[in-house]
Amino acid sequence: MDLCIIGSGYVGLVSGACFAEVGHNVVCVDNDQRKVDALHAGKIPIYEPGLEELVQRNVAAKRLRFTNSIEDGVDHSQVVFIAVPTPPQADGSVDLSFIERVAREIAGVLKPGQYRVVVDKSTVPVKTGEKVTDTIKRYNTGADFDVVSNPEFLREGSAVPDLMKPDRIVIGGNSDRALALMKKVYEPFNAPILVTDVSSAELIKHAANSFLALKISYINAVSAICEASGADVEKVAAGIGMDRRIGRNFLNAGLGYGGSCFPKDIAAFIAISDDLGVPFTLLKEVQRINRDQKERYIKSIRDALWVLRDKKIAVWGLTFKPDTDDVRNSVPIEIVNELIKEGAIVTAYDPKGAEKAKEYNLCPGVKIVDCPLEAVKGAEALLLATEWKEFASIPLDEVKKQMHTPLVFDGRNFFDPTTMAELGFIYRAIGRPILPPKAA
Ligand code: UDX
Repeated sequence: MDLCIIGSGYVGLVSGACFAEVGHNVVCVDNDQRKVDALHAGKIPIYEPGLEELVQRNVAAKRLRFTNSIEDGVDHSQVVFIAVPTPPQADGSVDLSFIERVAREIAGVLKPGQYRVVVDKSTVPVKTGEKVTDTIKRYNTGADFDVVSNPEFLREGSAVPDLMKPDRIVIGGNSDRALALMKKVYEPFNAPILVTDVSSAELIKHAANSFLALKISYINAVSAICEASGADVEKVAAGIGMDRRIGRNFLNAGLGYGGSCFPKDIAAFIAISDDLGVPFTLLKEVQRINRDQKERYIKSIRDALWVLRDKKIAVWGLTFKPDTDDVRNSVPIEIVNELIKEGAIVTAYDPKGAEKAKEYNLCPGVKIVDCPLEAVKGAEALLLATEWKEFASIPLDEVKKQMHTPLVFDGRNFFDPTTMAELGFIYRAIGRPILPPKAA
């Protein structure tokens, strides 16, 4: 099929590349000409495992191309996906101006007799589909089109496999003609398809992300109770996760959720539920627990080091989670900035996020180094903030030798407490009992 994706950010670019990989002809539209040129040259603006090869292979096979012209994209495609940003506003509601502009632009280039399915892939509040439909009609009274909602559930760091082998594909539409075309788009993926009305599909995205965030806040609240009672949150999570009705996924206690989806989507869901007159207060508690988790961690560092001013602190991990270079809305970065504010001397290492953290000046005052062992030199504490796999292969005896004081705050329950105690570390995990370090 001939498909067009408007917006070549995370969702648009990965979706475009995956659609091309299964044999569709895809035009990706972006209004940033520099990005379009770079993508044609095979340069990917984000780090996402497997994406670069996928883009290069499909560009070479002429199934994937990039343009800055919406007219070009819409002209050549039966199905037009909208995958532009929907950033948060100060009150938590969503800024839909990019979607609105694209809807007007699509209206401006739709030709008479040219039927198109306009698909919203961006995460939007319920009822956006209706507004897109009204907008296109208002700016092009003769347009022949249907609007469909098709939310995307990909995770950063595993976006390509998430898209190629999805748990489910949600298609929300009110027209049989549009739904038939959408099913054809997704046929090659061999995944279960759930067909709903437009509003239900829109709600599924916010409800799914909020539920996952609720699971994280739930286990983080349990981790605080574990700390107060001497229980081990990892064992509790294993025990409740073995119940198939609950499941073990997203029950990893840590520093709280971050990234460009969960914080924004939960705020948006709260805002839209307020707007609809049915306030979703449970989600406010989810937000509060998430904030508290970070505060508790910082407090435990303060408790151990007393005054943070002039203390040398090493930090491993700046990205909001591993396998991504995304440092936006990263809890590790928020923590690092708090330490700096209190006068600590912070040296950080991150396998992929260092460049973007420097480029956007996200943690001014922090020295970012290229080697994890360099970061811990002379440190009075090490904070593990993102659970990158490579941290498992760093020799811990060497880490201990390099540190001034062998004090480790593990914000992701990455290390084994017994091993850490045996190596002589003063080890503080999240929601786990404290074991006395073995004397050297
Ligand atoms: C999320 C959703 O998973 C995805 O379906 C949606 O399309 C976009 O939002 P993403 O933000 O890429 O994806 O990351 P995810 O893996 O879900 O992690 C989000 C945050 O939760 C991270 O900060 C992560 O560290 C944290 N997290 C996740 C936990 O603290 N504990 C867990 O058990 C799982």
